[in-house]
Amino acid sequence: MTTIIEARDLSKTYGDVQALSHVTLSVEKGALFGLLGPNGSGKTTMIKMLTGQTRPTVGSATVLGVDVIRDPVGVRGLVGIIPEQETPPSFLTAIEYLEFVAAVRKITDIEKKADWWFDFLDFADKKNVLCKDLSRGTRQKLMFTQAFIHEPELALIDEPLINFDPIMQDLVKDYLAGYVKKGKTIFISTHILEVAEEICSGFAILHKGTLLHTGPVTGLTARGEHLPSFFLSLVRKDRHV
Ligand SMILES: Nc1ncnc2c1ncn2[C@@H]1O[C@H](COP(=O)(O)OP(=O)(O)O)[C@@H](O)[C@H]1O
Ligand SMILES: [Mg+2]
Repeated sequence: MTTIIEARDLSKTYGDVQALSHVTLSVEKGALFGLLGPNGSGKTTMIKMLTGQTRPTVGSATVLGVDVIRDPVGVRGLVGIIPEQETPPSFLTAIEYLEFVAAVRKITDIEKKADWWFDFLDFADKKNVLCKDLSRGTRQKLMFTQAFIHEPELALIDEPLINFDPIMQDLVKDYLAGYVKKGKTIFISTHILEVAEEICSGFAILHKGTLLHTGPVTGLTARGEHLPSFFLSLVRKDRHV
């Protein structure tokens, strides 16, 4: 097995806020890994550290074999990322934004690849519309496209289904499941537990910056447990400690 993400003892403090405390976890190639946790549990902080957007206070991590502290630019060059709440630049049209991404990432054949995505996510009619005039859902389609258009070995998505309607959520879930079948790896954060149970192969539960559990989803289902009730029992127990 090839390890794609290896985080060792990662901690992050913002002033006197301990956002993440000594998190150690690994993700293998081909996994669709879900990072679960209530609001404020440290999911976004974890993704930011794994993608070289913020430096850990303590600990280390390698992503696709690259050290995220020593070479954050190298990591960002390799992976696909959809940061939380991110929207494309307001002053570019949808296609101009993808051309911009293609120039930065040195992607060839961008017109053809972009057309495939416009068609797949059903927003070809928005190709020449300025991003400031796109709906939230369409902006998310564009963010999704920029994360996958270079077919990265690893994509990290902070809340992938937010802003999508049920039809689009279904399409995106199928796409993610198909993507890992090709041997690629996906790391998502979500607080929609049913989605995690449906599509994830492995998961971790964060609560107040601490890792409460990490393991395969099949381990749970083999014991007849469901992820949502498992999650709630762990988090509630922790709350009463
Ligand atoms: N830039 C920041 N400055 C100060 N505190 C932050 C910052 N980013 C996150 N936090 C705090 O760190 C904790 C974890 O936040 P976050 O990683 O965004 O959690 P989640 O994504 O699980 O909701 C929260 O208490 C949040 O308020
Ligand atoms: Mg978050």
